[in-house]
Amino acid sequence: MSTSHIYIENAKDHVGEEVQIAGWLYNKRSSGKLHFLIIRDGTGMMQAVVSRNDVPEEAFQISGELTQECSLIATGKVVEEPRSPGGYELHVTDVELVGRSEDYPITPKEHGIEFLLDRRHLWLRSKRQHAALRVRSEVIVAMRDYFDSRGYVNLDTPMFTPNACEGTSTLFATDYFGATAYLTQSGQLYAEAGCMAFGKVYCFGPTFRAEKSKTRRHLTEFWMLEPEVAFMDLDGDMDLMEDFIVEIVARVLDRRTEELKTLERDFSLLERIRKPFPRITYDEAAEILKQKGVDFQYGSDFGGNDETILGSHFDRPVMIHHWPHEVKAFYMKRDPDDPTKALAVDMIAPEGIGEIIGGSQREDDLNELEKRIQEHDLPKKYFEWYLDLRRYGTVPHSGFGLGLERTVAWICGLKHIREAIPFPRMMYRLEP
Ligand code: 4AD
Ligand code: MG
Repeated sequence: MSTSHIYIENAKDHVGEEVQIAGWLYNKRSSGKLHFLIIRDGTGMMQAVVSRNDVPEEAFQISGELTQECSLIATGKVVEEPRSPGGYELHVTDVELVGRSEDYPITPKEHGIEFLLDRRHLWLRSKRQHAALRVRSEVIVAMRDYFDSRGYVNLDTPMFTPNACEGTSTLFATDYFGATAYLTQSGQLYAEAGCMAFGKVYCFGPTFRAEKSKTRRHLTEFWMLEPEVAFMDLDGDMDLMEDFIVEIVARVLDRRTEELKTLERDFSLLERIRKPFPRITYDEAAEILKQKGVDFQYGSDFGGNDETILGSHFDRPVMIHHWPHEVKAFYMKRDPDDPTKALAVDMIAPEGIGEIIGGSQREDDLNELEKRIQEHDLPKKYFEWYLDLRRYGTVPHSGFGLGLERTVAWICGLKHIREAIPFPRMMYRLEP
């Protein structure tokens, strides 16, 4: 690329200069001696005005023949133009076609969702998809910054595991040199080892669940960020997740305003995300459902619909804690004052996307944990290393896991989490 190439997002710094914009044709309109090209280069959109008098005849000809999503390089002068999208225009002196694009399948007309998902590799170029994935990228940086700037160590955990973390019913098995390995459901157990080594750690990576549910909240491959902290109890865990969410939302509001506008997001709903978040017990949540006339069986897990109702009962995320231990994972500590309850917490987002965070204080007693592993019928030999963490200097500790796609879907106001990940994997979708 020549030295005068600029990205559209930096056009404001080059007013009056002759530059090159390299990108793809988003749209075009022509009138007699003028072609108006809307070029996108991934960082923004810019109108390029091609006037017959200002360009070689061949360039004017080419401009007239450009089709949707062909790639091109336009040379010209950056001019301030408040009426133009983005506020700047390119007054073109030359145009070069780089790659043709004939019969681009995604046109401005309405397409069905399966049609678009089949063409996800192209759909990424569309305005809304582009905006949502930019927000995703911002959320990832914000999440890492939150923990990096507070002295957490990033500890990567394995994808191949010999055992289950979150229940045996959603494991993906794969052949591992004649043995069976499972794709990880969560890095938590390894993060627990990490927090005993580093005090506070986080892991972030893809996690896998063979979810046979076709809901708008479930993927089979999703990304999870999981902090784990030694000497932290359930209350500390809730303080941490609350502070974390407030910072992430504020950062996206601050830095991704344009994308949120493209997504037609209601800013007022996000501006409300301030401390404190409501904290209620499972029993209180069950009571709310009962009062709203929901047919709910006390003692069971909340279903998607229950979560939607509970989430929309509050104007900010609600933390539901102290769960019947039967519906929660084996590693959670029981409440010493009420052993029927696990020291677990779920954070439910408002506006219907459901649980975005699951966390707990961990069982730190060796004998109790051994009992749980047995009760849950888990193969003890694969948990010996995990039990070692209780044999050698055990301490109270807690952590949580945030589902990235649900969080992005909530922040962007997306109806379905499949648009919060570049290439979604779901029960019936492994392609593209
Ligand atoms: O509640 P979960 O199962 O918790 C854990 O995995 C813990 N080991 C985390 C921890 O304490 N370190 O999952 C955590 C979050 C959920 O709240 C949800 O946001 C997301 O992961 N999640 C999914 N997201 C998309 N598709 C799925 N199938 C998901 N399953 C869970
Ligand atoms: Mg959960």
